[in-house]
Amino acid sequence: MACKLMVTGCNGQLGRAIRSLTEEGTEFTYLGTDVEDLDITDLESVIAYVKSNQPDVIVNCAAATNVDGCEKDEDGAFRINAIGPRNLAIASAECGCRLIHISTDYVFPGDGSSPYTEFDTPAPKSAYGRSKLAGEVFVRQFAKEWFIIRTAWLYGDGKNFVRTMLSLAEKNDTIGVVDDQLGNPTSAMELARAVLGLAPTRCYGIYHGTCEGICSWAEFTEEIFRLKGLSTKVEHISSEEYKRRFPASADRPAYSALENKMFALNTEIRFRHWKDALREYLS
Ligand SMILES: NC(=O)c1ccc[n+]([C@@H]2O[C@H](COP(=O)([O-])OP(=O)(O)OC[C@H]3O[C@@H](n4cnc5c(N)ncnc54)[C@H](OP(=O)(O)O)[C@@H]3O)[C@@H](O)[C@H]2O)c1
Repeated sequence: MACKLMVTGCNGQLGRAIRSLTEEGTEFTYLGTDVEDLDITDLESVIAYVKSNQPDVIVNCAAATNVDGCEKDEDGAFRINAIGPRNLAIASAECGCRLIHISTDYVFPGDGSSPYTEFDTPAPKSAYGRSKLAGEVFVRQFAKEWFIIRTAWLYGDGKNFVRTMLSLAEKNDTIGVVDDQLGNPTSAMELARAVLGLAPTRCYGIYHGTCEGICSWAEFTEEIFRLKGLSTKVEHISSEEYKRRFPASADRPAYSALENKMFALNTEIRFRHWKDALREYLS
């Protein structure tokens, strides 16, 4: 059955990945918007846009994703990451369409020692995490048919950790990378596949959606260099040492790995191991 998707933040990493999977010949029709044609912080514009375009599903990929930037301008972060999804939730309820909202591992405190499931209680420690959690609360409050997918360490077509490391490797023989923060590197293509898998269903609720496997930023970087055949060395450093070198950076969770429990319990959708997804991305 045909499914019309309205994707906000369509020029971002996830938005682009979704677009690439909804070309002709699929059951999906793709309608992309970004801040220049639809600012999600403007309620009346959001309602008018959704009413006139009548999507079956809104996928909210729009966000303020610069973690350090959110720390400096928490109100700005709340406007985009909390009020924005609230507006989309209100519009989706008024227009009778489903809402898929993307959230983050940063809603958790990051001090655990085993992967967080959807049944663990969030307690964010950063402005970014607080604003994203407020967005989740609004979606649950105002949308009727909603999915929230929390992802982590996302890379795709855009500015991301993989591209930053490759660009640093062009100018340096050795790069210092943090080895005491653990998480799940996740390819935007894998997440996009999961979004499209959920979109036509009524399996509503909160999902964790990350590639399988856990590693540190330093191990992630070593795998990037190995797959690209680069000889650049990775110096394993602590978060404390990183903060000494870059004092302006916001604190990151030490342990923010997620378990995709709801996908396993509720659906046939599975994510690949992060190393396999990374290989596909780099090729
Ligand atoms: N990147 C990660 O590592 C990561 C990790 C965990 C969760 N997530 C979540 O995953 C989702 C997708 O992330 P991503 O990496 O694809 O994000 P992204 O590449 O930063 O793209 C976000 C897009 O939203 C747009 N946008 C910003 N403010 C807007 C507004 N007021 N109205 C409409 N559009 C607006 C941005 O435009 P400008 O570029 O012009 O601002 C950008 O095109 C987000 O919800 C994010 O919080 C990301």
